[in-house]
Amino acid sequence: PFEAKVDSILNLMSLDEKIGQLNLPSSGDITTGQAKSSNIAKKIEEGKVGGLFNIKSVEKIIEVQKIAMEKSRLKIPLIFGMDVIHGYETTFPIPLGLSSSWDMNLIKQTAQMAALEATADGINWTFSPMVDISRDPRWGRVSEGAGEDPYLGSEIAKAMVQGYQGDDLTKNNTMLACVKHFALYGAPEAGRDYNTVDMSRIRMYNEYLPPYKAAVDAGVGSVMASFNEIDGIPATGNKWLLTDLLRDEWGFKGFVVTDYTGIEEMMYHGVGNFQQVSAQALQAGIDMDMVSDGFLTTLKKSVEDGTVSIETIDKAVKRILTAKYKLGLFDDPFKYCDINRSKKEIFTEAHRSFARKVATESMVLLKNENQLLPLKKSGTIALIGPLANTAVNMAGTWSVATKQNVSKTLLEGLKTVAGDKANILYAKGSNVDYDLEYEKRVTMFGKTIPRDGRSDKQLMDEALSVASKSDVIVAAIGETAEMSGECSSVTNLQIPQAQKDLLNALLKTGKPIVLVLFTGRPLAIVEEDKDVPAILNVWFSGSEAGLAISDVLFGDVNPSGKLTATFPRNVGQVPIYYNHKNTGRPLGNNEGKFEKFKSNYIDVRNEPLYPFGYGLSYTTFQYDNLKLNTHKINRDQSVEVSVDVTNSGNYDGKEVVQLYIRDLVGSVTRPVKELKGFQKVFIKKGDSKTVTFKLSVDDLKFYNSNLDFVSEPGEFEVFVGTNSNATLKDSFELVQ
Ligand code: IFM
Repeated sequence: PFEAKVDSILNLMSLDEKIGQLNLPSSGDITTGQAKSSNIAKKIEEGKVGGLFNIKSVEKIIEVQKIAMEKSRLKIPLIFGMDVIHGYETTFPIPLGLSSSWDMNLIKQTAQMAALEATADGINWTFSPMVDISRDPRWGRVSEGAGEDPYLGSEIAKAMVQGYQGDDLTKNNTMLACVKHFALYGAPEAGRDYNTVDMSRIRMYNEYLPPYKAAVDAGVGSVMASFNEIDGIPATGNKWLLTDLLRDEWGFKGFVVTDYTGIEEMMYHGVGNFQQVSAQALQAGIDMDMVSDGFLTTLKKSVEDGTVSIETIDKAVKRILTAKYKLGLFDDPFKYCDINRSKKEIFTEAHRSFARKVATESMVLLKNENQLLPLKKSGTIALIGPLANTAVNMAGTWSVATKQNVSKTLLEGLKTVAGDKANILYAKGSNVDYDLEYEKRVTMFGKTIPRDGRSDKQLMDEALSVASKSDVIVAAIGETAEMSGECSSVTNLQIPQAQKDLLNALLKTGKPIVLVLFTGRPLAIVEEDKDVPAILNVWFSGSEAGLAISDVLFGDVNPSGKLTATFPRNVGQVPIYYNHKNTGRPLGNNEGKFEKFKSNYIDVRNEPLYPFGYGLSYTTFQYDNLKLNTHKINRDQSVEVSVDVTNSGNYDGKEVVQLYIRDLVGSVTRPVKELKGFQKVFIKKGDSKTVTFKLSVDDLKFYNSNLDFVSEPGEFEVFVGTNSNATLKDSFELVQ
């Protein structure tokens, strides 16, 4: 619908102005009141900027947009992007945590609210959702995605895109989404960020590409290319990826942006000089250059010497202009710039209370021996650990807009939720770790926990003294916010040693201990699982984390989160994921015993510590009566699967009922289990619910060795249960 309008502007544009639209510089040098004199301002005036990103505050955005509208020749509005990843000022759990809620409606609402707040502050484009499947917790950015499963990842991708974009992008409270990082960024060798990715096409199609495709199918407006290479060609310059697959095969109609300096980095990948890589990126399908200035400084020459055609440039310009039209920026460039809205609609009490609820839904109860949790709101509770009294670490990585230090710490949260009924004591207990250098590396964006002036022994002594006065200890330990996220890869998946030592010393007191585990990735916590009676994984659960964790600890909310990424026993098991293949030498179900000449290790059993889909509740759920309405279907039919779930414990609670299938024989090998359905249901104690799923033939399809998406006749097993170890089983046959 915008084609004629876009063409009419294109006709007015000089080559320089066209290239300018493809340029997305960083806005680092813009501060309020100084926009006019910044370097960027000059570029905007000259028509050399298509958009800017990460400017926070509507006042600054108004200033900058005014330059474009008043000083540039063609008065083309700028688009304003930001990493609005898990909320804006109201911050929700890190995406890995959010995915653990398994609640698509809730996830969609978080994106809606993020869009509402960000657009109230002038932002109209978010670099989210991040849908990179990862099976490697060494990779720090595992925290930013939805875990390891393509089915769940696709559902979440769809929910996020719908949440951000709504059904009408011209509204001033919806924003353009950008699915990233296209593609396969979550599979770098050795889990090291930005490292080489090498993967068969069949694995890509079946296991890693589905969530990106789901975002495209949901109408995502933009795509961000990833830093890694694919088939030896950097994604930023990979024509197969950005054009053949994305546009020709999947029908994507929006625009593609590089990641930060993606074009420049192609030189370091070793595929050409700046002139060459910039041309290659454009020709591969990149429309917008984030930060490299590659398009800005080289494309004109490439057009003049005939390397790049004006038609290729025009295509990219049209896509950017179309996005601006879709957002309604040509009708009103200041439509997201209502200062009153920014004052009224951001970080409101209502938003914060929603974030508190969402945070509770993301937490995963990993262990609860003798029902130590929930805690009683009485007696003396010793809260101990370096993460117990820090606000800045609550929101987690990529929380660009979060107001640091505004949120309650866990200590404040416990005191607020317990009121006068319980006596809460506190001790820091240890620094994050012993090694100062290591701590510095993970101290970014001001999210530091100041190193304590006291010695390790003094900290420990204080902790033991506080512990001795208590009835129960809550140990708040784990990673700090920036120990996961971008460029925070690790080779050791254990809790930092200083905190392990603290925990062990606390265990020796003989007091009951609840471990409140902060983490942005699956950790290898075998020892803690063995020794500590109760473990609640709280991720980094956002601006209201302090209160939300307390809600769960005291049982005001019964935890219902389930892991979306497998927790390994040790780093050597990685990559570890539930939907693996059987191999020709599978190990039988032998309780972890070693078997020579079978696919297993001599030093550790194959099973993870906690499987995909795992998470406990304060209540218990019993599964019975798995029923299939038919045991034979043809391609036009579907199978209805039902199961009775009973809340057999003492609390009302929510359960994520999970359905897996196994395709027993295929033209290519098939995973031992694949998630194909889930429902989060609330069941009052003592009540039962019948949960019903429908499996259609589309759910049975996979990409075969010709990369055709097919279903093949044969037997399919169906499993339903509380996690990916589900054992209630039946089967059906798909006939020709
Ligand atoms: O959106 C991010 C991306 O995930 C990592 N590099 C920088 C981009 C923009 O801030």
